[in-house]
Amino acid sequence: MNNAPEINNSAAPSSAAAPTPAPVTVIGLGLMGQALAGAFLRAGHPTTVWNRTAAKADRLVADGAHLAPTAADALTAGPLTIICLTDYDAVRELLGASEDALDGRTLVNLTSGDSAQARETARWAGKRGARYLDGAIMAVPPAIGTADAVILHSGPAADFAAHEPALAALGTVTHLGEDHGLAALYDVAGLAMMWSVLNAWLQGTALLRTVGVDAATYAPFARQIAAGVAEWLPGYAEQIDSGSFPAEVSALETDARAMAHMVEESEAAGVNAELPKLIQAMAARAIAAGHGAEQYPVLIEEFSRPRAD
Ligand SMILES: NC(=O)c1ccc[n+]([C@@H]2O[C@H](COP(=O)([O-])OP(=O)(O)OC[C@H]3O[C@@H](n4cnc5c(N)ncnc54)[C@H](OP(=O)(O)O)[C@@H]3O)[C@@H](O)[C@H]2O)c1
Repeated sequence: MNNAPEINNSAAPSSAAAPTPAPVTVIGLGLMGQALAGAFLRAGHPTTVWNRTAAKADRLVADGAHLAPTAADALTAGPLTIICLTDYDAVRELLGASEDALDGRTLVNLTSGDSAQARETARWAGKRGARYLDGAIMAVPPAIGTADAVILHSGPAADFAAHEPALAALGTVTHLGEDHGLAALYDVAGLAMMWSVLNAWLQGTALLRTVGVDAATYAPFARQIAAGVAEWLPGYAEQIDSGSFPAEVSALETDARAMAHMVEESEAAGVNAELPKLIQAMAARAIAAGHGAEQYPVLIEEFSRPRAD
């Protein structure tokens, strides 16, 4: 079954037939919250803002935002409130002090956190009569309001659909599913990908620098490899989803010999060999379990359980 989320590339406000932009509230005007409120204003939404440190609203107010005197006033200013604070503790502290204002409101919490925090906050808000969507922003503040800003949402589909026209002012908005924890899980999965690519590049750069090849020289080559490997993902995903790993291009035991070279080269060059050794150890366990003749994605079995020491 294909559960791929639908990407709705609808960042640009649409033209003549567009309905009047709905009022929105943004609570939390740090670097990201200011970008979110600014994007709503640019898209023509009547925008109410609130921040613990009120001065951070000055520029937005100059651009047409309404500064609510209290967080409760901000919450009751309209049907939809976007919250973007440092962490979930701050969110719960703030909402806990304004509980009476939550009944009948829809909250979209774009604060970064984990899936358990998202589900727990959804339960907490639901008990107080609020509709709740959790979200994850896969972008930096300057991208907000452009199609490059991917913003993931999870929670009731009907609540997402009701507010999608407003949320689309922020970027490319996506609904992942009803489980409130999904956006946080995708966020972490994306970070795993980002750091793995960067770590691999740093490993290679450290090695090459020992012979005078600088990072800028290696970067285009590394980029080509990363893009090429990315092309393998759909086919490898089919292997994982089917649970069948025929060695169509390379067997794991062939890869393991190359891993040994990577460890040896790193040690000989005097660079850090921890990461190559970790990958080598995972492959060795899979080979010991009888998977040496299968293809690399069979390592999903190592990734899918805690290490058994
Ligand atoms: N910046 C990015 O590139 C980026 C990208 C993706 C996701 N995010 C996520 O977006 C969220 C906000 O990030 P940011 O960059 O905007 O951080 P930030 O600039 O440090 O802003 C933090 C915001 O949280 C508020 N806050 C913290 N504790 C509070 C409390 N106890 N009560 C009320 N308000 C409180 C701060 O209010 P004061 O102004 O009064 O201190 C401020 O508005 C984080 O979860 C972050 O992970 C950020």
